[in-house]
Amino acid sequence: MTETHEIVVEKVKESKIGNIDFDNLTFGKTFTDHMLECTWRNGNWENPVIKPYGPIMMEPSAKVFHYGQAIFEGMKAFRDEDDNVFLFRPEDNWKRFNESAKRLAMPEVPEEIFMYGLKKLVDLDREWVRYGDGLSLYLRPFMIASENGVAAAPSTEYKFMVVMSPAFAYYRGDVRVIIASQFSRAADGGIGYAKAAGNYAASFYPNNLALEEGYQQIIWTDAASHEYLEEAGTMNIFVRIGDKLLTAPNNDRILNGVTRRSVIQLAQDKGIEVEVRKISVAEVKEAAESGELKEIFGTGTAAVIVPIKGFKHEEYTHELPVLNDSYASDIKESIKDIHYNRVEDKHGWRV
Ligand code: COI
Repeated sequence: MTETHEIVVEKVKESKIGNIDFDNLTFGKTFTDHMLECTWRNGNWENPVIKPYGPIMMEPSAKVFHYGQAIFEGMKAFRDEDDNVFLFRPEDNWKRFNESAKRLAMPEVPEEIFMYGLKKLVDLDREWVRYGDGLSLYLRPFMIASENGVAAAPSTEYKFMVVMSPAFAYYRGDVRVIIASQFSRAADGGIGYAKAAGNYAASFYPNNLALEEGYQQIIWTDAASHEYLEEAGTMNIFVRIGDKLLTAPNNDRILNGVTRRSVIQLAQDKGIEVEVRKISVAEVKEAAESGELKEIFGTGTAAVIVPIKGFKHEEYTHELPVLNDSYASDIKESIKDIHYNRVEDKHGWRV
């Protein structure tokens, strides 16, 4: 990676870190002292600027407000006991960011700006990365269409930005899910695989309906038949039937999760049989009835690994058993050991 873009750094006069209660963090509400901003104009990326976190000026006609031309990534930095700070598989996020950019007709962000900018920003605010079980610094790179004008065509100007938020758990409390039988998150040929802002906005209304019924998330099913499990919107989904771990294959409706890939690898390292294949709702319900359904869990950067306590599908409801030999807990411990540099990094995931 060569450094051809100089990064201009404007530091805060006084850090606000002293006012932060790291023991009581609400996910994604507190931001660090600095952020990164880089503009794409006239076909080129300008020099990135790191500056104090704060409001940005945009005209109300900017395309992002009208057509949702916006993408993002979710990443984390972790601190180990000896005060080293690590990113987890950042290249994977950079690559996926650019796949999302391509699908949304946005310019790709060069590795040098994404990775070097991110490292410099994390380094500047490294005091915000706290050591402790479940603690991390959540990194949110995103890109928005910043050209003014409401013609429905791709923007000619973009802002790539990174903001960072000290984080604890994404979900607090139990998570129960509704398996979708009416609404859909993504369709064939659509943008489900991209981390497009609109994918998330579209899930808020059905998710609110689920919340009203006491369910925290939705497991989306395929739009064509609603017969196969896909993903949970903020997480990919794993189902354990007997001793096998199942997860849906990637396609153009499902996000290619970095945590999902890590979980598949770690499960295989432990000798767990993993099947990446279509999982039907009928199969899950049958396994629930026969007692073979052991676990369902979600995986994602923000959520890490979240056990699902129960699910509802149409009129059918089921509570998952509490296990002493849970794959979710075992794999979660292993992934945390890697995050916090407590074990050798066999797969080269720490940067
Ligand atoms: C992440 O896990 O980082 C995500 O992007 C999910 C997000 C909606 C919180």
